[in-house]
Amino acid sequence: MAEVTLLIHDLAAAVTPMGTGPLRGREFGALRVHSPASVAIAGDRIFAVGPPAEILREIPSGRGCESVDGRGKVALPGLVDSHTHPAFLGDRAAEFELRSSGAAYEEIHASGGGIRSTVAATRAGSARDLRSSVERHLGWMLEHGTTTVEAKSGYGLDRETELKSLRAIHDAAHSNPMDVYPTFLGAHTVPPEFDSAAEYVEFVIHEVLPEAAPLARFADVFLERGSFEVPEARRYLKACREYGLALRLHADQFSERGAIPLALELGARSVDHLETTQHEAAILLAKSDVAAVLLPACGLFLDLPLPPARLLADEGAILALATDFNPGSSFCESLPLVMNLACTRLGLSPAEALCACTANAAHVLGADDVGRLAPGYKADVLLLDAPDWRHLSYHLGGDRFAARIKSGRVL
Ligand code: NIG
Ligand code: FE
Repeated sequence: MAEVTLLIHDLAAAVTPMGTGPLRGREFGALRVHSPASVAIAGDRIFAVGPPAEILREIPSGRGCESVDGRGKVALPGLVDSHTHPAFLGDRAAEFELRSSGAAYEEIHASGGGIRSTVAATRAGSARDLRSSVERHLGWMLEHGTTTVEAKSGYGLDRETELKSLRAIHDAAHSNPMDVYPTFLGAHTVPPEFDSAAEYVEFVIHEVLPEAAPLARFADVFLERGSFEVPEARRYLKACREYGLALRLHADQFSERGAIPLALELGARSVDHLETTQHEAAILLAKSDVAAVLLPACGLFLDLPLPPARLLADEGAILALATDFNPGSSFCESLPLVMNLACTRLGLSPAEALCACTANAAHVLGADDVGRLAPGYKADVLLLDAPDWRHLSYHLGGDRFAARIKSGRVL
């Protein structure tokens, strides 16, 4: 019998998505609520979850292990943020102020600001500055309950700064307990030194991708007017796929221009945003194995139309939610806030929102052993300081954790 190293005892409840793999269709939002419950952890894995008396019987008597008092609290799986942009320097507070008085995000981008202003700041800083910036951002996410995170490059857009970004993500991952999945967003937008998207994509494929690919798990592209159209996105993604990277797309954020058919054609892992996705493409996506990642904090931040969340869920899409943490369109690191927005604005239930930030987000990242409180899964556990698991999405911006446990260690 494995040695239990940590016991969280006498919880009001322990709550987890059911089953294995992604939950879609009728299974989306299916939770198992153990109440009351204890959780036994052996090393970095969950050993058992169940009624307190039963769990006690599984622990050999006389053996001391660390224990946490769970009375009045609820255990939940650590949250998984499957879409973030933490590798940047500088800020966009001035741009935020401009937007508050009516300037449009896309206009600012078209006139050379927006993403390109963050690219300039990120290029100008040292590798060490960038690493501390990523560390700081990941620390914020962890405070809000994220224990597994995807992290994109994409504010370099030259060889040196893209590699500096991916290395900063790797280094920050070592100094942080979270599991970090790096993404090469070499096709975020066209930097000012290039005249055309096609020319820039050739540069990225030949001069950056060979060294970037070993540092990343995924490749991503911003398929949008003013950045990349379908032909350049296809060329970039196919080249990245040849290097073994799984594919993600920023899709249908401001305009629908063929991202979903392309994602299906290439067997992408996910399409993210979907604020302008129309009925036909939504159905196509829902019936496919490409996941739909919704980013309601970005929608709120930029006042975008709402994505067809209910349609996607009801038609059986693999639905995940993420923060899209970045300096321009979603300066938000809190998944509990995103879950609240999913319930208040997208018509998802608290149970669906929880699945979308745990099991389904883990599927997007190919992280099969996180996102559930079940034997054999990684012991990533949040202790919510509330007697009811729904407080996680109900308490607007008030995620109150009594403890965060990552890989079996109380932080
Ligand atoms: O996901 N849409 C493109 N990329 C980011 C925004 C980047 C930025 O504004 O800095 C997004 O919204
Ligand atoms: Fe994004």
